[in-house]
Order: sequence, then structure tokens, then C-alpha cells
Amino acid sequence: MASSHEHKIDHLDQAYYGPPIPPAAPAFGAGVHPALRGTYALLCIAFRVLTLVLIALGVVALVLWLVYQPSSLRAYVDSAQLTRFDLASNGTQLRYNLTVGVSIRNPNRKQAVLYRRLEAVALYGGEQFGYVDLPRMRQARKSTVQIRPGFRGQADLGAGAAPAAALFGREKQEGFFGIDVKLRMRVRLKVIVVNSVEYRTNADCYIKVPDPSNATAVALGFTPTPCHVDDFS
Ligand SMILES: *[C@@H]1O[C@H](CO)[C@@H](O)[C@H](O)[C@H]1NC(C)=O
Ligand SMILES: *[C@@H]1O[C@H](CO)[C@@H](O)[C@H](O)[C@H]1NC(C)=O
Ligand SMILES: *[C@@H]1O[C@H](CO)[C@@H](O)[C@H](O)[C@H]1NC(C)=O
Repeated sequence: MASSHEHKIDHLDQAYYGPPIPPAAPAFGAGVHPALRGTYALLCIAFRVLTLVLIALGVVALVLWLVYQPSSLRAYVDSAQLTRFDLASNGTQLRYNLTVGVSIRNPNRKQAVLYRRLEAVALYGGEQFGYVDLPRMRQARKSTVQIRPGFRGQADLGAGAAPAAALFGREKQEGFFGIDVKLRMRVRLKVIVVNSVEYRTNADCYIKVPDPSNATAVALGFTPTPCHVDDFS
């Protein structure tokens, strides 16, 4: 640079036929105090390292996720206490007192389950009569928890009253009431520190509960029943 400069000064009268000399691009941060430039460079490196770490964590999470595909939960109704279940004489109002013990098994070896929402509903003849909102909870991997939703009160069966009343009449004769208990769950799965998206999953438990006013049926008792649980999807 210096020599060509001198050369140009020496031969100012001669035309220059070479390619145009590009003006030297000022270095980024030129004119900035050197100490500040050092800090800036350090920040750049820190930012790059952070980005790489985040990408690496994402890849690790993805691999863990692919390797450990979650199995669906399992649920069983272990016990049921029905102390009241009668239909008013006009056939639309159901008075009930039902407590069910449900075990939920998390079979996964890697994923804990975070229940963000857990509610239980009870239906008779397709008509919902009971609802319980259960507290949020966390379930460790490979573990079983027991929940005991209790449904008590009275409900108007509404539009479905006639078929439900007919069903009630039949099942009263048999000594057992077929009640549908459904768990509606919204869960996240947790692998080490990574939380999954929220899944909605339902457990469907159809139980046959002895009529509390029928001593024969009560003596026969309740048979523990598995529920059908949706896959995570
Ligand atoms: C049915 O009877 C119950 C009480 O026995 C009453 O509360 C309810 O309003 C009645 N329903 C109809 C539709 O008459
Ligand atoms: C419902 O039944 C339980 C026993 O399972 C009993 O302790 C409770 O007092 C009953 N509640 C009502 C409102 O009848
Ligand atoms: C009581 O239950 C038994 C067996 O479940 C049934 O055979 C019988 O008809 C029932 N009795 C009445 C009075 O409904």
C-alpha cells in the first residue's frame, strides 16, 4: 500500500490502468475504544456458545423423545361404594352417592406425568349426573397413584330421562347399576428436565355397582374393572 502510494506520488502525471483500488473497508468496530471492542468480541463468542448449547439441548431432547416413546397410562377401578342411587317417582331426578377408587399406573420408565387437569364425570344411561374436579398432581415414573372421586347430590336427567329411567327399572331388577366413570386428563410428560406439550387423554371406566338396597347384590359385591385409556396423541 505504502509503496503504491509513493509510486503514485512519483508518477502523478501517468494514468493508472490497473483495476480500481477498492477503498480499504474499515474494520467493524474501528474507531471504538479497544477495551470496548474486546467486550464486544467476548459477547459475540458468548452468544455463539449459548446458541450452540441451546441447539444441542434441543437435539438431546428430541433424541430422548424419539427413543422413549411414551406408553399410555393404565387405569383400574379397584373399589366402588354406592350408598344411594334412586330415581324420583317422576323418573327425572336421580339422587346418588358414589365413591370410586381408581388406580392410575404410569408404566413409563423415563417419563413422569404432570396432571395439569384431572376431572371425573359419572354418567348413567348416557346422561351425565356427577362431576368432580380433582387437584393437579405429579406422578413419578413407573408408579401408581390412587384417586377417590366422590359423586354425591342430585341431578336432573333432562332430555335423556326416559331411556335412563327404563334402564334404571331393568337394572334395579338385576341388582347392579352400570355406571360410566370417565376421567378427563390434560397431562404433560417430563423427561429429566424437558416437558412435553400438553396431551388430552381420557379414561373410560364402565363399572357394575351393586344396588345398595339389594342385599343379595351387595353380598356379591363389586368386581374391580379395568378402564380403557386413550394413547397419547
Ligand atoms: C321430579 O321430582 C323431584 C322431587 O321428587 C323434583 O325436584 C323435580 O322438579 C321433579 N321434576 C319434574 C320434571 O317434575
Ligand atoms: C355418602 O356415602 C358415604 C359412604 O360412602 C357417607 O360417609 C356419606 O355420609 C354419604 N353422604 C351423603 C350426603 O349421603
Ligand atoms: C337383587 O340382586 C339379585 C342378584 O344380583 C337379583 O337376582 C335380584 O332380582 C335382585 N332383587 C331385587 C328385589 O331386585
